[in-house]
Amino acid sequence: MKSVVPSVLTKSYDELDRKVRILEQLTKVIQIDIMDGELVPNISLGVDEVGKVNSKSKLEIHLMVKNPKAYIKPFANIGAFRAIFHIESDDNPLEVIDEIKKSNMEPGIAINPPTPLEKILPFLSLVNVVLVMGVNPGFQGQKFIPETLDKVRAIKKIRPELIIELDGGVNPEIGPSLVEAGVDILNVGSYLFKDGDVKDHWDRMQEVIKNQ
Ligand code: DX5
Repeated sequence: MKSVVPSVLTKSYDELDRKVRILEQLTKVIQIDIMDGELVPNISLGVDEVGKVNSKSKLEIHLMVKNPKAYIKPFANIGAFRAIFHIESDDNPLEVIDEIKKSNMEPGIAINPPTPLEKILPFLSLVNVVLVMGVNPGFQGQKFIPETLDKVRAIKKIRPELIIELDGGVNPEIGPSLVEAGVDILNVGSYLFKDGDVKDHWDRMQEVIKNQ
């Protein structure tokens, strides 16, 4: 079952609130990007602001942070249902996954374009989702890197039942190639909000996954 999950990347509570109010009318799941300025060269708002937004949609937290362990309990406490950490972070992946599970959230592992797939293979049987980055993380509006689909195909072969998300540069033009490669969840950020008609862009993304 394919799906589209919007990503919100912001350091402004007002922007978070404005976008979540629109998105929660369209989708049951919203991804919130959390950045510490160390793992990626950008900083986002923090758990307190995210906790205030009270979304009707379930929140998936994308932890682009050097030490994800420190973020797990706080985001579990505000009701996030899934926490995705980066294999490029400093914490021990087994400890991070264990901490996420103990906090009753679904664990996900993310991998950046330059990182070899081998780095995450030992953990694929321990997570619910793998997030393949289609761009080098930290900013919206970047161009999708097609070679990242090689990782998607390889993961699908190794663990066909594992949910694969792809995040970064996603839009209706490249959508069909992602679905064809085996992506289950298309994360979309700036495409939804460019030139204003979110519902129209959302519907175009739904067209990509229709009948899949
Ligand atoms: C990239 C973030 C993505 C981003 C996607 O650093 O991890 O989730 O919000 O935005 P677009 O779709 O504009 O690349």
